[in-house]
Amino acid sequence: MACPYEVNGSEHDDNSRPLGKNFGMLYGEYLMLDKILEAQRMLSVLDGQTPVHDEHLFIVTHQTYELWFKQIIFELDSIRKMLDMEDLQESKSLEILKRLNRIVLILKLLVDQVPILETMTPLDFMEFRNFLAPASGFQSLQFRLLENKLGLKTANRVRYNQAYTEVFEDEPAALQAIEKSEKEPSLFALIEKWLERTPGLEKDGFNFWAKFEESVDKFLADQVKTAMQEPNETTRTYRLMDIEKRREVYRSIFDCEVHEAFVARGDRRLSYKALQGAIMINFYRDEPRFSQPHQMLTLLMDIDSLITKWRYNHVIMVQRMIGSQQLGTGGSSGYHYLRSTLSDRYKVFLDLFNLSTFLIPRDAIPPLDASIKSALVH
Ligand code: HEM
Repeated sequence: MACPYEVNGSEHDDNSRPLGKNFGMLYGEYLMLDKILEAQRMLSVLDGQTPVHDEHLFIVTHQTYELWFKQIIFELDSIRKMLDMEDLQESKSLEILKRLNRIVLILKLLVDQVPILETMTPLDFMEFRNFLAPASGFQSLQFRLLENKLGLKTANRVRYNQAYTEVFEDEPAALQAIEKSEKEPSLFALIEKWLERTPGLEKDGFNFWAKFEESVDKFLADQVKTAMQEPNETTRTYRLMDIEKRREVYRSIFDCEVHEAFVARGDRRLSYKALQGAIMINFYRDEPRFSQPHQMLTLLMDIDSLITKWRYNHVIMVQRMIGSQQLGTGGSSGYHYLRSTLSDRYKVFLDLFNLSTFLIPRDAIPPLDASIKSALVH
């Protein structure tokens, strides 16, 4: 059967559905290609010079990024809406997983797209760079919305010489959208609430946290016993010191005040209860009830990790194109500013990456008892 949009001019398709200009919508019309394909305005052409061939690629690359940003934001908004409820139904969590995975795949594409623009040489770029100033990726509203909707806090942004919102000063609608994205619950905030509700954390129920602390105490005591049997004094002292260091690491999660100090310093983000939920999901990922939540945490880390990879690919491309001494067209220090955004400050789900710090051997993990097992089924 022919695609309806291919039958421009004919009045019916094979199934006798009316088609054509006066009846149905055509491919180009549906996709508004007149707008999209007319939108590659090469400034080097307007200047009356010989057009710079690579400017076309530069424009199309940025436009495709912006279109994919739009799709990511669309998925993100829908995920946040589904997560914003007390009782997350299984059917909803499957849909959330599907959409998070879609975001991950798009981000992979965005990371892989960078080398295409790198086929442009710095000399080619130099030929039209002046025409586009002061335009800069720094003014990408969608990129800022994306960061905020994920949960990047303003306090964690690197300040170069102005607030990141200042470039939108003359655009009230953009400023309003940014303000809204800063205030409404981010994906991080919603995930944090969801983690706090992890079944098994209840003190009057399975009480995972108390059991975990007991297991860690026993695990460390066993390690001390083994170390004490070491005949060589230097090795024994070294091992005992190592165990004490580990004890300190665990104290940072079992002592709520130490955890809060980490949060205040910006080294941790999740609430104390949410961190407990994340650790529990990490330990019991093989239990059917925790398998989807575990996939969810993995996808969230994938998102953070892919955005960091994009930042990295972008900054390497920037160094290749303009070096490390030139200012950006947006007024930042260029390469040096961008390189500083590669730090952990920009990882929204930083705590999930650090969960492995608190692992204990599989056989030391407190076994789930019958009551929690039956609670997990219902
Ligand atoms: C020749 C290629 C490129 C060069 C030389 C370049 C250069 C820069 C520079 C110097 C900055 C720092 C801000 C400033 O202008 O002062 C920046 C920021 C940015 N650029 Fe690019 N860029 C290039 C391609 C792209 C592409 C393809 C995108 C895709 C959307 C993009 C998106 C961004 C974004 C979102 C920022 C803000 C990053 C942040 O503040 O964390 N850039 N770019």
